[in-house]
Amino acid sequence: MKSSIFFIFLPLSCFCDSVFDRIGNGYYFIESEHIDEHYFDWFFARQDCWRHTSNLVSVETVEELKDLEKYVLSKGYSEGTTFATSGHSFRTAPDFWWDGSDEAVTFDLWVPGTQKPTRKSYLSLQLINSTLYMQESLGQADYYICEYKFSATRVWMSLNENTRTIVLMALMLLWVFILCYLIGTTKPRREKLDDQEKLITESRDSQDLKEVIFQKNNSFKI
Ligand SMILES: *[C@@H]1O[C@H](CO)[C@@H](O)[C@H](O)[C@H]1NC(C)=O
Repeated sequence: MKSSIFFIFLPLSCFCDSVFDRIGNGYYFIESEHIDEHYFDWFFARQDCWRHTSNLVSVETVEELKDLEKYVLSKGYSEGTTFATSGHSFRTAPDFWWDGSDEAVTFDLWVPGTQKPTRKSYLSLQLINSTLYMQESLGQADYYICEYKFSATRVWMSLNENTRTIVLMALMLLWVFILCYLIGTTKPRREKLDDQEKLITESRDSQDLKEVIFQKNNSFKI
């Protein structure tokens, strides 16, 4: 039973160990698309994050943005580099929404001198003067940032068909194990009960016998 649980969580631990870096309180990894025309497809990036058991980054707090900034600077990304996030305003314009965490964007850090965009667009981050600022994007960015957060659905979506079948079989096995275990523990209980019933009837019989003997003995005396 233990080994099947381990098996289910194996893909998780692999992904974490291989591509994700711990930054602040979260796990992230930064990827580029490696496409010649340098045209960034937000949907491709989102899909790619899903494949890695993660989502495009949702920067919910200023602290998270500052942690990412430190990380980006330590990795030596050059001035002006842009990073795609899960933020967009296609459903909520002019407000922005984190697609990854399914929450509203609650703070502003737009590039100084620019206004919050009013048209429907994506939200990307840009490194300017060693600071990560929010910036309107129409689907073009140098890199995209994936953020790992444990979610059963996300794990499921990251698995391919074969792995899904194996996991389903493992879950079914696990279920059978549990069922067997439950049947195994209820059976002796039933036997115990039978024993008890037998004992009671036996002792009742022996009691009757004793009474008979007692009466016989007494009758002799009389
Ligand atoms: C970046 O720094 C330069 C020089 O200090 C300054 O002129 C410029 O306005 C700064 N840009 C932003 C977006 O803060």
